[in-house]
Amino acid sequence: MNELKHIAIIMDGNGRWAKKQGFLKRVIGHEEGAKRVREITIHASNLGVKYLTLYAFSTENWKRSDTEVGFLMKLMDRYLKNELSLFLENNVKFETIGDLSKLPKTLNETISYTKEKTAHFDGLTQVLAVNYGSKDEIIRAVNKAVSLKKEISEDEFDKLLDTKNTLPVDILIRTGGDKRLSNYLLWQVAYSELFFTNTLWPDFTKDKLNEIICEFNKIDRRFGGVK
Ligand code: FPP
Repeated sequence: MNELKHIAIIMDGNGRWAKKQGFLKRVIGHEEGAKRVREITIHASNLGVKYLTLYAFSTENWKRSDTEVGFLMKLMDRYLKNELSLFLENNVKFETIGDLSKLPKTLNETISYTKEKTAHFDGLTQVLAVNYGSKDEIIRAVNKAVSLKKEISEDEFDKLLDTKNTLPVDILIRTGGDKRLSNYLLWQVAYSELFFTNTLWPDFTKDKLNEIICEFNKIDRRFGGVK
């Protein structure tokens, strides 16, 4: 068995799921996707995973229609308000990565409130990537490094990233069939095991996650060394 502390997920395929089900609006897929966020969070928490990092909104997602962007912002706000009790009951801490300065004020307030109420928990940390882009994160970190006016090590650079409070990603999963990283955790996945599944995010149940963990446990992780 491999040690499993951090799972990161690119939750793709919501729009296609809605179309496949015959819904006229793509956003119904996001609504269903939010239910899987809940299910996978509880499951990861029960498995003893320490970090679950979920790509909820990328720096590129602003290119979508105003209606879809607005819907996603409201959905995240509603999700956090609803899920606070789930976090409290399951010892789940809530964190974010990404540049929150461009988000609507209400969502920012809800994010701050949820972080404050769960800050003392030490079970799973659910990390939502909101207005997150790996290149944006790296450039913000580089600018902080430059202001230090000295050469820095990899470990010191790690501490300048939004993910400074997490551990290296063990498993990265992308649902929805595409095999790309879409500007997600580019630095952090240096030695992650990558899993690409055709399952659309709203169909991604805890059994699907278990199947991936089973595959992960068969991998001989050498991190560049020899065993
Ligand atoms: C990609 O699917 C998904 C997103 C851009 C948003 C992810 C959001 C959720 C899973 C729900 C909201 C999250 C929370 C935390 C409440 P897509 O729309 O690009 O799918 P497609 O490729 O089929 O069009």
